[in-house]
Amino acid sequence: MTTRKDSQDINFLIDHIDPLGQGVFKEGDNIFFIPKTLPNETGIARIIKKKKNIHFCQLIKLDSKAPQRTDSPCPHFNECSGCHFLHTDYQSEIEFKQKTFTRMLSKLEINQFETITSPDRLQYRNRIQLHRSGKKMGFYKYQSKQVVEVPNCKIIQPPIAPFLSKVYKDRPNFKSHLELYLKDGTVSINKDLRYAQGGFTQVNQAANEKMLHKISELFKGEQLSVIDLFAGNGNISDVINYKTRMCIDIYPESYSDFINLDLYSADAIHSLRESSIDLLILDPPRAGFKHLNDWVRKFKPKQILYISCHPMTMIRDLMEIKSNYSVDSSFLIDLFPATFHFEGMCVLNRN
Ligand SMILES: C[S@@+](CC[C@H](N)C(=O)[O-])C[C@H]1O[C@@H](n2cnc3c(N)ncnc32)[C@H](O)[C@@H]1O
Repeated sequence: MTTRKDSQDINFLIDHIDPLGQGVFKEGDNIFFIPKTLPNETGIARIIKKKKNIHFCQLIKLDSKAPQRTDSPCPHFNECSGCHFLHTDYQSEIEFKQKTFTRMLSKLEINQFETITSPDRLQYRNRIQLHRSGKKMGFYKYQSKQVVEVPNCKIIQPPIAPFLSKVYKDRPNFKSHLELYLKDGTVSINKDLRYAQGGFTQVNQAANEKMLHKISELFKGEQLSVIDLFAGNGNISDVINYKTRMCIDIYPESYSDFINLDLYSADAIHSLRESSIDLLILDPPRAGFKHLNDWVRKFKPKQILYISCHPMTMIRDLMEIKSNYSVDSSFLIDLFPATFHFEGMCVLNRN
């Protein structure tokens, strides 16, 4: 096996795009990840980090371009690692995400799903967080703790743009991060908050509306008894026709009738009385929910609605309950266009 050194330049031929949106080139046992490339493209890349035979590279020059390549609408795209697909069109981006989700779902022997695209590919985020590194503030560079300044970021909603310009002009003091958040027409700016301002809210409101519309269609029948785990502000269960609802979240400013519990503590479940419910909803952070089986045994839901911003952990959790529940329908929801992230959603019925 030929060994490769950091900062060495290599000639590449991209084989495929991985789940993180990076082009993958293989040479013998060596694997090279090269962001912002597309299948079949060739060129030169520089190794910027190496772990055994895995090499993280930066694109230096393209010798041949894929037909799906387009010019990025963002001036920061080449350096910034906030977006991953702005070197191609939205249709191609969706197809890459579909391939990733298809591979993930095959573990559950599921071979079809519906795709819900985002109404806007750019200018959709109602919230951004700038990180600090030395005197700079912005988003991280690929495989680095250095940041790239992003005064012309293209994925924020337009009302945030003048506030972002002003932040770059005024250079406020903060320790780790600065958040700009647009709510009801007003932009608030907060420094170093532990939680997002106002608690978790979906960042892409227009795509969230499409997701909620689908959920309300899926559960439009009789009134249901519902438990909503990782409920946030009740975004998901609000659109369900429920007769009883219990919303649980750790965020301390949750609505007054919501239960404030750390769902990752093994004790959380013991503070609730056993009962049988119609629907268990869960929408956990990226780590997923390893306690799902305990909640399923205690509350015996007839149906489960699992929504996840990291579908790999959703699939892992669903594998644990697959002997008692069957996946009825699955969805790829593109809540985070231009990035490799997407939402996976599965509806399960008790066997
Ligand atoms: C992906 S968000 C989903 C929120 C909501 N379902 C929605 O659609 O807006 C995940 C939620 O998990 C909550 N959370 C994070 N860690 C938690 C924990 N240890 N216990 C309970 N809730 C937690 C967050 O506060 C956040 O509201």
